[in-house]
Amino acid sequence: MKNKYMNMSKQTQLTVDFLRERTNIRPKIGLILGSGLNGLAKDMDVRTSFSYSYIPHFPISTVDGHEGRLLFGTIGETEIMVMQGRFHYYEGYTMQEITFPVRVMKALGVHILILSNAAGGMNPDYKVGDIVLITDHINCFPEHPLRGKNDEAFGDRFPDMSAVYSPELIEQAEQIALQHQIALHKGVYVGTQGPSFETPAEYRMFRIIGGDCVGMSTVPEAIVARHAGMRCVAFSVITDMGIVGSIQKVSHKEVIKAAGDAEPKLSLLVKELITRNNK
Ligand code: HPA
Repeated sequence: MKNKYMNMSKQTQLTVDFLRERTNIRPKIGLILGSGLNGLAKDMDVRTSFSYSYIPHFPISTVDGHEGRLLFGTIGETEIMVMQGRFHYYEGYTMQEITFPVRVMKALGVHILILSNAAGGMNPDYKVGDIVLITDHINCFPEHPLRGKNDEAFGDRFPDMSAVYSPELIEQAEQIALQHQIALHKGVYVGTQGPSFETPAEYRMFRIIGGDCVGMSTVPEAIVARHAGMRCVAFSVITDMGIVGSIQKVSHKEVIKAAGDAEPKLSLLVKELITRNNK
């Protein structure tokens, strides 16, 4: 029988070898930047940059607003790697494809994964442009990234998900927000496949099941990162509100604009978080 996971670990190794030969950055922290948040990489001293199309086994991003580059460099003294643009399930990739870069990060030595995304707000305390520190998620994707034969070298068959988002990193992010007077909500992120935005009834359902915001990413990557023992911290930028009774039409353009407007605050938070975890 064909063993997909043998292929995947081999692919991961090939990609890792390719990258290691071309950069002397040895990142301990990885970042995945969501829709409209690419500018987060501005504060970074980029040493090596790869277009996704140039990296063996990397899928190619198909959405406007996702530049599709893998960056290696530093913020202050800290060596990091950044995915400028991510792969989404709605683009037609498999769950294994969209989470492949997380496996590559792990194999490169990354132990903290910082995720960002654009999301619709369902908590009535939120408004467009707010930043939410994700404390937990609800996985509503139709497929699981760990489905299939488990690679024990990577993680457990039945990985614990009691604290996907690191309590210590959450606490640090809150302290940083307080110090810099950045308003920061905490909330539960619902991950769903898209690509259509929610109907009013769907927003209501996601609110009822315990969600504060909803988006089309992050959950598969966070699950794979936790499976591999990485610590995660994730931020949503609220780009539209799914409050039943006042729902406005949503477009991708508005999502990108709202995310871009919130970017300086989020950049500061992320930069400080990286600096504090330089070990
Ligand atoms: N729903 C799902 N994904 C999103 C939304 C939304 O309202 N806004 C930005 N990404």
